[in-house]
Amino acid sequence: MTGTNEAEQQVQTNRHLLPQIVKPKLYKLQLEPELEFPEQNGAQGKQDLKFQGKANIELEIISSTKCVTLHALDLEIKEAAVEVNNSKLIKAENISYDKEQQTATILFPETLLPTQKVAIQLDYTGTLNDQMVGFYRSSYKGSNGETRYMATTQFEPTDARRAFPCWDEPAIKAVFEITLIVPADRDCLSNMIAVSEHINESGKKVVQFQRTPIMSTYLLAFIVGEFDHIEDKTEQGIMVRVYTLKGSSELGRFALQVAVKTLTFFAEFFDIAYPLPKMDLVAIPDFAAGAMENWGCVTFRETALLIDPANSSTVARSRVAEVVAHELAHQWFGNLVTMEWWTHLWLNEGFATWAADLAVDHLFPSWGTWLQFVSSTFSAALRLDSLESSHPIEVEVKKAGDVNEIFDAISYCKGASVIRMLANYLSLESFQKGLQVYLKKFSYKNAATDDLWKVLEEVSGKPVFSMMSLWTRQTGYPVIQVKQNQDNQWLFEQTRFLSSGFTEQTTENATLWIIPIGAISSSKPTETRYFLLKGKKEEMNDVFGKEEDWFKLNSNQSGVYRVNYPLSLWEKLRKPVQECILSSTDRLGLSMDSFALCRAGMMPTTSALDMMASFENETDYNCWVDLISNFDSLHSVFGKTDESRYLMERFFCHILRNIAQQLGWNAAEGEEHSVSLLRPKVLRAMVDYKDANTLSIARQLFEQYIHNKDNVVADLRGVVMAAAVSSGGQKEFDQVKHLFETATLNEEKVRCLQTLGMTPQVSLMKEALEWGWQHVRYQDYIYLVSSIGSNPKGAELIWEYLKEHWNALYERYGKGNFMLTSFIRACTAQMTTQMEADQVEAFYRTKHVEGCERTIRQCVERIRVSAKWFERDEKATKEWLQRYVKDHNC
Ligand code: BES
Ligand code: ZN
Repeated sequence: MTGTNEAEQQVQTNRHLLPQIVKPKLYKLQLEPELEFPEQNGAQGKQDLKFQGKANIELEIISSTKCVTLHALDLEIKEAAVEVNNSKLIKAENISYDKEQQTATILFPETLLPTQKVAIQLDYTGTLNDQMVGFYRSSYKGSNGETRYMATTQFEPTDARRAFPCWDEPAIKAVFEITLIVPADRDCLSNMIAVSEHINESGKKVVQFQRTPIMSTYLLAFIVGEFDHIEDKTEQGIMVRVYTLKGSSELGRFALQVAVKTLTFFAEFFDIAYPLPKMDLVAIPDFAAGAMENWGCVTFRETALLIDPANSSTVARSRVAEVVAHELAHQWFGNLVTMEWWTHLWLNEGFATWAADLAVDHLFPSWGTWLQFVSSTFSAALRLDSLESSHPIEVEVKKAGDVNEIFDAISYCKGASVIRMLANYLSLESFQKGLQVYLKKFSYKNAATDDLWKVLEEVSGKPVFSMMSLWTRQTGYPVIQVKQNQDNQWLFEQTRFLSSGFTEQTTENATLWIIPIGAISSSKPTETRYFLLKGKKEEMNDVFGKEEDWFKLNSNQSGVYRVNYPLSLWEKLRKPVQECILSSTDRLGLSMDSFALCRAGMMPTTSALDMMASFENETDYNCWVDLISNFDSLHSVFGKTDESRYLMERFFCHILRNIAQQLGWNAAEGEEHSVSLLRPKVLRAMVDYKDANTLSIARQLFEQYIHNKDNVVADLRGVVMAAAVSSGGQKEFDQVKHLFETATLNEEKVRCLQTLGMTPQVSLMKEALEWGWQHVRYQDYIYLVSSIGSNPKGAELIWEYLKEHWNALYERYGKGNFMLTSFIRACTAQMTTQMEADQVEAFYRTKHVEGCERTIRQCVERIRVSAKWFERDEKATKEWLQRYVKDHNC
């Protein structure tokens, strides 16, 4: 284990770690879950299901002790004893719990010595909860329509302690031997292959699994249910299976194909064979995250694994490929080599995010995965990281409650973006070589961020550590201001980019980065020149001579920064955008930067609107993703009156018209993946911005859809439902609700939830919330809440709703609190005034929000940025729009 330089040690003393007096070597665990409620007399007294557990844990005693402290949460340890040297059994004297630290301390009457062979034995019970953390239950319908339960696990980050007493820290790796005792008709899955199975004296099935390799607790999994599966083998002979509810296994076909190829791809790319004998991918009906990388037994939400060729959209296929590849990347990055502490979570998540795209790009070269990276991952990183309330990639994590909140766009998206920047700087070949060395060196061990930098530095011979530490230890990222000095020479100056527009003035305390810059210019628009910006300010003599009409920095958007040019240069960059002389990624970069700069007050909004108008003939999917998201922001911030909303909608529809006409409503045979993604994106925007013609066609299609689902292809179902609900009333609302109730594919149910909240009637929104709370799976309720939250007409209601139901929301979603943070965000999405920001702050001040604090600060900051933006640019924006709409007759 590493990461123990001085600074690191300092940090560790602040962490709530278990005392390092004993260490687990082998856990033998036996679990027996109840899968039926004892007596179901009415709906009354909904008790929880329980499970019985026995743990036998072989320990290494590091220093003599009478007491053993380990993690345990919501567990009741009935009996504890310790077996010494395979003979003497000593009963514990006392068991105490620390609720705050989530630990149990077991006191023995005799001292345990380092020379002894020691195993503690615990008999305990726990709750098979319904909150999708720890060992939990998930429900499904049996063949007679009755509700049945499966038992499954979600341990990351810190919930293994809800299933068995353990040393629940990523660096405390051990071997696990799992045994499950279940009703005879159930199937059992775990990380490893079952080695024995028999029926015991009470008629139950006892399944014992092979021992795992040495691994962290958060990666363990065990599942009891009734499944069908399909299977295939990799070239290296690894058995890959997709498990689904009975009767649905064919829906796993696409994921299975992706998984088989991806496992082979990663084994080659990392030059390390997949070390387990099998890989299961399991669809779980109730699942909090998208998927979880348990070693050899990956669990998924149904929408992240199942594809129905007739009813799944192109977006869903992209998503499944991405999620499968992401979780399989973790089998190396995370499972084989694990972060030393949650501070380095990004090593898991940033890498898996980057590597997933590498694999998807390899499997589906025509999808343009790396182009999409910029409009999704890169853009999300820059958005969140422009807030003062952001955090560094390497972030201090003290206690369990802090961990959930860092599964955010910084760990995932900024993490992946700095990796892409580095891979580009070192060359992919050199980077890959470094990764191979790193993974081999730390296999079955833990590593910290510095360990990776050190290896990459050795392998590449470039100063990786000094450059990358700046990116992972400092919050934020730079904006390069391009200026001209008195001699007309170009000057590049870096400052931290903040949405609030605030920039540090003094050089002494300014944040600086080492920035690899790639640049293209009008004389050689396809040839990138590279240099490093190291200081605060540098003159770029001779880089761009007088003959250049324009130049663009950050070519291919491979660096994590924004660029601000003098207005005259922004002007000149419009032409290469319009004429597509710049690549789609560079066009996208200009769109992203200009919009972010105007929001931050570093550029007039009218100049960003000029830039936006240059995209009239745009055909690229990723550019449209960004443009439409910018339309949405403008609409919510500046659309305060009917007139301003009307002007904006005219302008947006005008810009969208060409591409909408080009795409039409019918997919061409074998058309490109990105075109299939673009069509619903554009048509949906036309619906949102009330283009009469689009609305009317969509409404007609909705009628046909209600008549027979096959009349509308999956890609367009969201669009036609949105049109019907947003321009309709009770009737359309009920029709979509009915579609939800009759849908069998969860993807379809989610589509319905995403549209129900678009109704213009507040009374229907209320109805939806009440109904949804009762009838929608816990994990999917957020889709309904966000669709109301992003509907301007629902903004007030949803905030009132959250305030009124906070306790219930907290009860249901507060355990794995990254779900709660989604509610917090969704309910402030449309807020744009200082007064609203004050109200949000005031409300949460009175609430228990542990683990959500940063999210709340981010929401408030975002609202205040919008408020300032409106105050600053409202007048000029409106005038610009009036002129545009008049001049273009739109
Ligand atoms: N390790 C995470 C799952 C996770 C998330 C556990 C949050 C605990 C808290 C998993 O690898 C993951 O990142 N899943 C993503 C999907 C991915 C494609 C971005 C998810 O759940 O959304
Ligand atoms: Zn992940």
